[in-house]
Amino acid sequence: MELRALLYVLMFLLTLFLYFIKTRDHKDPNKRGRLPPGSMGWPYIGETLHLYSQDPNLFFAAKQKRYGEIFKTHVLGCPCVMLASPEAARFVLVTQAHLFKPTYPESKEKLIGLSAIFFHQGDYHIRIRKLVQSSLSLEAIRNLVADIEAITASAFDKWDGGLVVNTFQEMKKISFEVGILLIFGHLEPHFKEDLKRNYSIVDKGYNSFPTNFPGSPYKKALLARQRLRKILSERKEKKFLEKELLGCLLNSKDEKGESLTEDQIADNIIGVLFAAQDTTASALTWIVKYLHDNPKLLEAVKAEQKAIRKVNGEGNRPLSWSQTRNMPLTSKVILESLRMASIISFTFREAVADVEYKGYLIPKGWKVMPLFRNIHHNPAFFNDPKKFDPSRFEVAPKPNTFMPFGSGVHSCPGNELAKLEMLIAVHHLVTNFRWEVVGSENGIQYGPFPVPLHGLPARFWKESTSSNALPPHDDLTISYPLA
Ligand code: HEM
Repeated sequence: MELRALLYVLMFLLTLFLYFIKTRDHKDPNKRGRLPPGSMGWPYIGETLHLYSQDPNLFFAAKQKRYGEIFKTHVLGCPCVMLASPEAARFVLVTQAHLFKPTYPESKEKLIGLSAIFFHQGDYHIRIRKLVQSSLSLEAIRNLVADIEAITASAFDKWDGGLVVNTFQEMKKISFEVGILLIFGHLEPHFKEDLKRNYSIVDKGYNSFPTNFPGSPYKKALLARQRLRKILSERKEKKFLEKELLGCLLNSKDEKGESLTEDQIADNIIGVLFAAQDTTASALTWIVKYLHDNPKLLEAVKAEQKAIRKVNGEGNRPLSWSQTRNMPLTSKVILESLRMASIISFTFREAVADVEYKGYLIPKGWKVMPLFRNIHHNPAFFNDPKKFDPSRFEVAPKPNTFMPFGSGVHSCPGNELAKLEMLIAVHHLVTNFRWEVVGSENGIQYGPFPVPLHGLPARFWKESTSSNALPPHDDLTISYPLA
């Protein structure tokens, strides 16, 4: 009997202890103010398991439904405030951006390089950003149309014949080549191959568990990163034009006449490649899917693009810059794809001081996450948000409701280049190919950006050869590994 009583007391104390720990985070830190509503989950792990046991977007959407547009949670070892309103996103990213610094896990910073643009605020960030922006300005990228077209056409040509391709992996090849073009201009093939080989190891390590165990993907990625750094520093000796990003970085001098260090240059080159590749490839893959799923829309896009192709002598003359600026329907398809897919569904900042927002305290050191996707999928801003409807972009979205490229000081400097790549890709795809998605499974995978399940396996046939092509059937060779 006494033993049972002791057990009850112990159980009571344990429950009290767990309750204390679980609710500890809910109390206002040092009574400095009222925290936003929300739940912090269990000690240390917080709500990480909830977040990762389902589609993260469902987690955020359920939270928003329950607590409103500002709520707290605890994920990946950090207390966070999530913001799902356009005003709150603007507050963090634009008007009070100095109170919120960019923040990334240390393992990712090490892999990309500590001097990369994303991780900085203030003078150094402004300096690098100016350089990156100058190589991505409209003036600069208009000269890339012919090269991007050549890269795209040659990549697509390899898909012909109805073999199953992993659309995302194929699109990554295109966005990588365009990134290389932007940074280095035209490169000798062996140098490009060296870069490609090492960069793809870094890319694989990015999403792996960060352990220094020899042979682990993360460790391999760190070693490949060192090799990349070496390759880039050897490259420094070559002459570069000012218009290419590497040239801009190499020629830059600050007000004291100081150049950038080799590390600063290498980190920013790896950083831009990283920022440019998977994002653009993911958007391109979603466009292929959305067009496939909306046959009437596809016909209308085809009509727009075939008219341009006709003017260009059925593809005998290349696309011009002004043609890429005059593709009204295709442009709206791109915007709607960016809204629907919301490739960067949210971003992270960290409060550098206690900040008050709408009567709530955001404590110093807490992570702050503007939830772009929730805003893009809010029926108050986008009617019937689950419907793919490019015509909604006939009217400009309300201010701060459409942020596929972020907003404020860290917004995407590559947005015009990304859109140009998409316009050129759609032109080639719809005027030259028909395609079929393999399998009927709909779904999203994250790596870390959202991509259609398995990278969207699909078969492509060149229109001119399609009459000779075999009807699709399931035992054709799989030419590329699925993701
Ligand atoms: C569809 C394709 C793309 C999407 C959806 C996208 C989205 C974004 C977003 C949302 C941010 C801001 C992140 C934040 O505030 O934390 C960003 C930053 C950035 N993006 Fe992109 N991006 C794309 C393509 C590109 C391309 C093609 C390049 C370069 C060639 C690029 C270079 C960068 C860089 C350097 C930054 C960091 C800017 C800074 O910190 O000041 N992006 N991107």
